[in-house]
Parts: sequence; structure tokens; C-alpha cells
Amino acid sequence: MLNTDHFWMPFTANRQFKSKPRMLVAASGMHYTTDDGRQILDGTAGLWCSNAGHCHPKITEAIRHQAGKMDFAPVFQMGHPQAFEAASALVSLAPEGLNRVFFCNDGSEAVDSALKIALAYHRVRGDGMRHRLIGRERAYHGVGFGGIAVGGIAGNRKHFGPALPGVDHLRHPLNIAKNAFSKGLPEHGAEMADELEQRLLALHDPATVAAVIVEPLQGSTGVILPPKGYLQKIRAICDKYGILLIFDEVITGFGRLGTPFGADYFGVVPDMIVCAKGLTNATVPMGAAIVRQDIHDTFMSMAPENTIEFFHGYTYTGHPLASAAAVATIDVYKSEHLFERAAAMAPYFEQAAHSLRGLPYVKDIRNLGLVCGIELDGVPGKPGMRAFDVFLKAFWEKGVLIRTTGDIIALSPPLIIEKSQIDQLFGAIGDILKTQKTVPDVEEAMA
Ligand SMILES: Cc1ncc(COP(=O)(O)O)c(C=O)c1O
Repeated sequence: MLNTDHFWMPFTANRQFKSKPRMLVAASGMHYTTDDGRQILDGTAGLWCSNAGHCHPKITEAIRHQAGKMDFAPVFQMGHPQAFEAASALVSLAPEGLNRVFFCNDGSEAVDSALKIALAYHRVRGDGMRHRLIGRERAYHGVGFGGIAVGGIAGNRKHFGPALPGVDHLRHPLNIAKNAFSKGLPEHGAEMADELEQRLLALHDPATVAAVIVEPLQGSTGVILPPKGYLQKIRAICDKYGILLIFDEVITGFGRLGTPFGADYFGVVPDMIVCAKGLTNATVPMGAAIVRQDIHDTFMSMAPENTIEFFHGYTYTGHPLASAAAVATIDVYKSEHLFERAAAMAPYFEQAAHSLRGLPYVKDIRNLGLVCGIELDGVPGKPGMRAFDVFLKAFWEKGVLIRTTGDIIALSPPLIIEKSQIDQLFGAIGDILKTQKTVPDVEEAMA
């Protein structure tokens, strides 16, 4: 019998989980296998990350090979080819001009790295007054102190305080009253971007702002889509005032929207892209900040010879196993045309998602690429309970893995999903919603 006492689980209702563990023991393609031998259809690509499907043989083999050849090598004042190859592979997917890569181990570190690059960049080019950072309400930028500061999740502030000084936030653009059940990008709300200039820059003085960071599509807090034209406006305002624009593409990177990055989908090129998750198909942890060349070159030209140009890094930056995984993963994305596949499947996914409209408690459905958010009317006084009930029933009764955040169901399957599996995924959720009680009984769902 497995002892579950010692592992303090992250972002988990530990006591609830441990009372009846949901244990995954194997994975292949679109499915997990549970410890009781059931197949679970993965509607979430693990955690928005196994875009090529699980245990892809080419990726697994690359990691196995690298582990036997060289387990670890430092990249502080030393190097190994894998890290350079991984950087070149990543650049081959990135928008033109973003061609310098700083590696780290996950999305949180990638966010902190990008914020540090932004602050230090202004400093080294002699504009050290630019110390402010602007994020957005309901943004999720990971769990580092930089990320929670620019992120807009109230729970973080409640538990950990304000984190960094000099940070302000745009409002998020979700407007269900005007945009409910939009298919793809919402029509209304591009003007929300104007408050960057009219409210925040007017208040703080644009000359003090180093960077604005946004997720092109806010995933973790419930699939909040940018209204048409919104990101273009943010880009234009940043350009006008010499402010760096960082896209956090930890979720939107690597084909989730049917293009390499969200930047490609929206036709808006930021100054830096933060990525992780799908970079290695989540096989080995890795994150990266992809940086505009002239930002990188400024560091190179301003520092004295033989000195460290950027005082930042992690022991596992460009880890050989992660690098090998990244190279193999990017190769799989290209050779199997997975981004194009996602784009081709998106209309079917959209139509299946919106087939749930009209079912009990469905308040809004939002979708783009292979992402969908289904917002439910919650149980008064018990936020998150209704969606959690659907999650439990999906897992135990329907053999389907979904993700919930508050009372929003978020779906982001591997890009290899088939039409029949899309039907299974939304069919399962639909069946569960049809039998929802006014107040769902979580205990019952676990029985
Ligand atoms: C947009 C975004 N940024 C950052 C992160 C943090 O990534 P990690 O959990 O790998 O630190 C996430 C995680 O979901 C994310 O969605």
C-alpha cells in the first residue's frame, strides 16, 4: 500500500486527494493508465504541456541516449553542444528577430528571467529609471516572487504579500455580459488596452516603466481571450513609450493555437517570449526566455571584456537531458506537422465545445485553437465546487481528465487528438452536466 503521507502536493486539496487518490502510473499517446488499470483520455495534455502526446518514442529515446552519454555538465563558464543545439532549434520556431535564448527550468523561472532581462537591459543602456513592471489582473505567471508580483491572482497577494514593489496591473479583458459564447476571439473590448496609456502610464510616468507582461491568452485563470485588436494596441503603446513587451507563452507556445507561438497567431511580435511546458513535451523540465537580438547585444556591447554580461543563471540552465528533449520535441513538432494538425482540428474542437451551450449551469464557452474554457454557474458560497464535481466524475466515471480553475473547466488536449476523442471528451462533460444537482455532492462523486 502506497504511503501518501510525506508528499506535500502542490496546488492540490491534499486531504481530499489522499482520502481517495487519483493515481496515474503510465502514459502513451492520448491516454494515461491509472493504478487500477483504467485508460484515461487526457483532455489537458497533462498540464497544458504534452503537446505531442505522451511517451513519444523519438523524445524518449533522445533522453535515454543523452542520459547514458553525459548526465550533466555546467554551463557557467563551460558549455556542452546540446544546450546550443536546443537554443538553435527553439529559435527556428520563434518569430524573426527573437533569436537569443536564455534557458532555465520551468515557466516560473522563465518569467523571472525575462523580467530581470528587462530591468537589466534598461539599466545597462543607461536608462535605470525604468524599474516598473506592468502585468494584468487574473494573469498567471508562475510562482516565483517576480511572477506573483506581475500576476494578478488575489490568493497570491493574500498569502505572500505584494512581492515586488513598483508593479501595477491592467484589468483583464473578460466580459461575459458582452462576449458570452464567442467563437474564437471576442468582438468587444479592444479598448481595454487603452487603459495602459490612459490610466497606468498616465499615473506612473511612462519613463519609469521597464516592461509590460501579458499572456496572449490567459489560460490558468480560466481561458480569457484577448478581444480582436487588443494585443495590437498593447504593442503600439509599448512602442510609443519605449517599453518592452513580454509575451508569456508558457501555454500558448508550441502549437496550442495552431501556430508555433501565440505571437504568430495574433501577428504581434513581442520583445521577449517566455516559454516552457511544450518545449520538451514536458518530459524533462525546461523553460526559456527568447529575446530580441539587439536586447542581447546591448548586454554584450556594454560590459567590459572578459566579464559576465548578465548576472543570472541556474545550475540546470540548458541541462543536457532537457536540451536533448527539446531538440527531439521540436523535431517531432516539425516532422509530424503537429501545429498544422492543431490548426486543422480547431474548427471541429470549436463546434464540439459549443455543442454544450444550453446545458445546465453553462454560463459561457470560450475557445481558440485547441483551448476551451467552459464557465459554469457556481454553487452560491462554494466557489469551485461545481467544476470540481465535474472533474471528479469525469475521472472516476467517464475515464476523462479535465482541468478546473474555480468554476471554469479548461481543456487543452495533446495536439494529436482525434475527432472521436474530441467527441468523447465533450460528450463526457455534457453527460455529467445533464445530471448536475443544484448542490453537487463531492463525496458522492468520489464514491
Ligand atoms: C502563462 C504561464 N506562465 C507561467 C507558468 C508557470 O510555469 P511553471 O509551473 O512551469 O513554473 C504557467 C503555468 O501554468 C503559465 O500558465
